[in-house]
Amino acid sequence: MKKIIIFTGIVGLLFTAAPVIAEDGPHDNAIKARQAMYQLYRFNFGILGAMAKEKMPYDADIATEAANNLSAAANLGQSQFWPAGSDNATEGNARTRALPIIWESYPEIIEKADALTTAVAALVPVAGNGLDALQGVVGDVGDSCKGCHDDYRAEDKK
Ligand code: HEC
Repeated sequence: MKKIIIFTGIVGLLFTAAPVIAEDGPHDNAIKARQAMYQLYRFNFGILGAMAKEKMPYDADIATEAANNLSAAANLGQSQFWPAGSDNATEGNARTRALPIIWESYPEIIEKADALTTAVAALVPVAGNGLDALQGVVGDVGDSCKGCHDDYRAEDKK
């Protein structure tokens, strides 16, 4: 009987210890949060891009919704998403493509973020006004994504 109790005790210990061992860097939650934000960018911008390129039928309601979603995501407060040391050169972080230059040149990256919010602010009121209107503004949004990625995001090595 005593052996069984000791055994369950050890098993219990293993199970409680496992998540601690599996836990990685101190910034992983922040890294995952910002990547989740970018996934929202991608999904909603993907809809708008597909409509603009006529790979998906234009739909005013869906275009408006995607533009509003992109705007909400682009205007999230990010002060806690970028802790120092959460770059791709620091050991022990979750997978990240954030280059150290983000922190070294801060606040320069804010200009790139502002370019996005400005382009999205122009997109929101016209996304539902027809295909031509959408096509006229979607390129600026895409340029603002690229403008930041070129300088601050590592190439995808996969
Ligand atoms: C102000 C800079 C900036 C802007 C603007 C920006 N990005 Fe990014 N993006 C980044 C950085 C930095 C990363 C890498 C984040 C990481 O891996 O920790 C990233 C990562 C991503 C990822 C990968 C997320 C993942 O799961 O790993 C996607 C997708 C993405 N961006 C899409 C977009 C789209 C679409 C836009 C425009 C609508 C955009 N980004 C605008 C800087 C930016």
